[in-house]
Amino acid sequence: MTQPIDWEALLQQAEQARARAYAPYSNYHVGAAILTASGRVFAGCNVENASYGLTVCAERTAIVSMVAAGESKPIAIAIVTRGKEAGTPCGMCRQVLAEFALDLPIRLVGADAREAFYETTLETLLPRAFRPESLLGERT
Ligand code: THU
Repeated sequence: MTQPIDWEALLQQAEQARARAYAPYSNYHVGAAILTASGRVFAGCNVENASYGLTVCAERTAIVSMVAAGESKPIAIAIVTRGKEAGTPCGMCRQVLAEFALDLPIRLVGADAREAFYETTLETLLPRAFRPESLLGERT
């Protein structure tokens, strides 16, 4: 059963999270908000580090917060980046998101052109993803 998605509310949460991004090195602020099957929303922002490689993206911050709260069924994600044209999730984030869902809609929004969003799915962004089933299938 598909649940209606309040994209405006989800987008607002992603924007609020984006305002909390810690990105003093790239100055590229990202916010993400994940809606789960229970109706709760988990937001995240990118958190950079003086040791650059330790940076965590907004999408992974949000996913980690979802799992830490005991949830595992994301049904939609909104991501806000800077500019008019939204950036797309990096490869690492695609893989981390794919652990929990493949068919969820992902709405990508540039902070300066909210109406010009781009909607996609993980199936499109990460075809033939390596998934939990890949491992479980090998066990017997
Ligand atoms: N970033 C994200 O938060 N999400 C992405 O999917 C792409 C990149 C962050 C990481 C870093 O803090 C900044 O954007 C520039 O790469």
